[in-house]
Amino acid sequence: MAPARPSRHSGGLPAFNFRTHVRKGNKGLRGTNGLAGRLGTDMKAIVYTRGGGSDVLELRERPLPEPGPGEVRVAVRFSGVNPTDWKRRTGGDGSPEQVPNQDGSGVVDAVGAGVPAERLGQRVWLWEAAYERADGTAQEYLVLPERQAVPLPEQASLELGASLGIPAMTAHRALTLGPGAPERLAPGALAGQTVLVAGGAGAVGNAAIQLARWAGATVVTTVSGPEKAALAKAAGAHHVVDYRAEDAAAAIRALAPAGVELVVEVATATNAALDLAVLATGGAVAFYSEAGVPEVTLPVRELMVRNLSWRGVLIYTIPLEAKLHAVAAIQQAVAEGALRAGAEAGLPWHHYPLERTAEAHDAVQGSIVGKVLIDVG
Ligand SMILES: NC(=O)c1ccc[n+]([C@@H]2O[C@H](COP(=O)([O-])OP(=O)(O)OC[C@H]3O[C@@H](n4cnc5c(N)ncnc54)[C@H](OP(=O)(O)O)[C@@H]3O)[C@@H](O)[C@H]2O)c1
Repeated sequence: MAPARPSRHSGGLPAFNFRTHVRKGNKGLRGTNGLAGRLGTDMKAIVYTRGGGSDVLELRERPLPEPGPGEVRVAVRFSGVNPTDWKRRTGGDGSPEQVPNQDGSGVVDAVGAGVPAERLGQRVWLWEAAYERADGTAQEYLVLPERQAVPLPEQASLELGASLGIPAMTAHRALTLGPGAPERLAPGALAGQTVLVAGGAGAVGNAAIQLARWAGATVVTTVSGPEKAALAKAAGAHHVVDYRAEDAAAAIRALAPAGVELVVEVATATNAALDLAVLATGGAVAFYSEAGVPEVTLPVRELMVRNLSWRGVLIYTIPLEAKLHAVAAIQQAVAEGALRAGAEAGLPWHHYPLERTAEAHDAVQGSIVGKVLIDVG
């Protein structure tokens, strides 16, 4: 491999020295052997060029990308995998060459024109890297608009950074759709409200529990068994209901006699009757998944009389302003130590090397419990 060339937009810093410094500074002492493969003009990337099963994913060498105006280049440390990544791979055509995965974390190692040089060396978390773009996070270096590379608060790990994106932004959007909720969550924003999070051991459910609790809500969650109950407790849920072991509607009504103001719903049709049974007057269901049942039947008159609403969430198509509110709130919650990940926060990490990205996708498709991370660099 050829030695690295200085970046056109590295603010006068030789890219070679800077990247060496950054990698050492963030991963402990590493000899140059540990940097092999990251100092050439080529880099490793996972790509697919047609849709299909995880066998369409290939490891390829690609040229090191250069940031354009308003962009940063990130030396990716972790690529976070979500259900959307395997769904898009399955349903898309991959042309001309798609790098998968929306979420990730890493270190800014070059900046384009108009981006302050102070961003060099920043540890960042990434969101929507592959949305309407060919460049996801399953590659050693990634160029993207600078606002999609958000500085990680000092105490936050890069593993946490790669766990935020889709799940936390979806949870934030859902939590801002209830009665009286502000556009951006903050401590006290949901004070006095009770929120039901369906599926509290899921990735979105985990983030919803933590953000709702940070915002001051009383949080009730449902799970399918004792192992998931322990995870939901670790996430901070006040009350956990095992929907397989007990009458969930009765249990939730006993906890919240006046009903819950908001349900963050993963199984929209399956849980419609439960949600109807536990909603307070004026309450809302913010739903983000079909969970295999594409249509739901709702009683129109009852919804009118009780002033209930069902509101859909697809993170990609919410207004940009709402995405930026989510990013800002997530940033604040992480800085305050209120939004965490890993086993102690109810979201165990599962690590895969870059060359086993296909297995990582299969694990998520197989509903592994926790967060799948790809160790990229
Ligand atoms: N619309 C959006 O913007 C958006 C954003 C992110 C994710 N999603 C979608 O949302 C789904 C979940 O994503 P994820 O990353 O959170 O997946 P995940 O980590 O696999 O979690 C899914 C959770 O759903 C729970 N669940 C399934 N049926 C349930 C039911 N009837 N009642 C309560 N909980 C139930 C599961 O728990 P049990 O099996 O124990 O019930 C599991 O904990 C995926 O389909 C994903 O594509 C959509």
